Amino acid sequence: MSRSGEKDTVWELKPHTAAKHQLLTGYLKAWFPILSRWNSRLVFIDGFAGPGIYKGDKPGSPVQALDVLLEHTHKDAMSSSEFIFMFNEAEKDRYDKLDTVVNEYIANHQPWPANIKVKTGCDSFEYVAEGILKHLEEQKKNLAPTFAFVDPFGVKGLSMDLLSRLLSFDRCELFVYFDFNTVNRFAAAGNIDDRLAELFGTDQFKRAADLTGSERKTFLHDLYQSQLMDACGFKYVKSFEMINETGHTGYFLFYGTRNFMGLKTMKEVMWNVDPGGGAVFSDILAGQDVLFDIKPDTLPLQEDLAQQFRGKRVSVETLEQYVVIETPYAAKHLKKATLKPMQERGIITSPNQKRKGTFPAKTLVQFA
Ligand SMILES: C[S@@+](CC[C@H](N)C(=O)[O-])C[C@H]1O[C@@H](n2cnc3c(N)ncnc32)[C@H](O)[C@@H]1O
Repeated sequence: MSRSGEKDTVWELKPHTAAKHQLLTGYLKAWFPILSRWNSRLVFIDGFAGPGIYKGDKPGSPVQALDVLLEHTHKDAMSSSEFIFMFNEAEKDRYDKLDTVVNEYIANHQPWPANIKVKTGCDSFEYVAEGILKHLEEQKKNLAPTFAFVDPFGVKGLSMDLLSRLLSFDRCELFVYFDFNTVNRFAAAGNIDDRLAELFGTDQFKRAADLTGSERKTFLHDLYQSQLMDACGFKYVKSFEMINETGHTGYFLFYGTRNFMGLKTMKEVMWNVDPGGGAVFSDILAGQDVLFDIKPDTLPLQEDLAQQFRGKRVSVETLEQYVVIETPYAAKHLKKATLKPMQERGIITSPNQKRKGTFPAKTLVQFA
């Protein structure tokens, strides 16, 4: 997706960017309270923060992230943890705007909570990330739980090596923009191979030259995904596709984590943004009124579970793990939309269920 505004200080907010913000804020809304329960410090890094604002005074990702915390219903319960927001933007004009926007935001939210620290910086992401790593090495410290939002224009300024070193700590998570459009265009061209090798952390992308169409798309997507798992050590990686105005894939957002709860939460958020499939947003369909409620088709999941667990007795917790990790569906699809109709059709029974069609914690499910 050619990203409008690459030359401007402030640019138009496109529907796909609003969808990206919905994913980001939906996730942070859950991540802040869950992690702050067990940790005295949390870090949010917006490595490619932009000017903090779009045309028409619409908020950019830094303001949206701050809003999540300051307007959170559990804000008071989180006040014993320190929240560090690091907003970095390399371009001076955009940084100046960002700094103004953030300072105004703080001035408009007085008295500013003492546990929320905001830092802005005008450097390259590489420089900032190297600085954090050097500091941690010197202090022999572990990085506090960190959510890194890495949202560049194009494929510049982002290497797998840097991500892997920054995000090798256990509780670090990543939400990263993968410019499929550019990668696909140049994977076989030979003129930006060094940059692509840095992005992927391997030169295997060159194998795309032998592929076309959807095979090539799947190959490049899966290669980036497997590199995030192998190089950064993420146990779970989940992507979300953005379709541009011409109906082609513009980019993917990849989320990486080592934590099951994180994956479960991000999948719920992805299904909120794409109620039909939990994986795609299209600029073409954006803004069109839908006259009926979009409900996911759970028949494929019913068939998958019936086959996977044939003859077995398992808990709903085991089924939830399977659904979240192994299928495209989210945990919220399991009980009412999947197990209930399966029970009605006699495919499953339960030896300890109190009320037919309901599956509270520890319910056992017997598959025929
Ligand atoms: C897509 S925009 C960010 C949008 C913002 N995250 C949001 O959602 O509102 C990417 C920004 O990264 C900045 N940028 C480009 N190269 C960079 C680098 N190496 N380090 C940090 N920022 C960079 C650009 O100037 C641009 O403002």
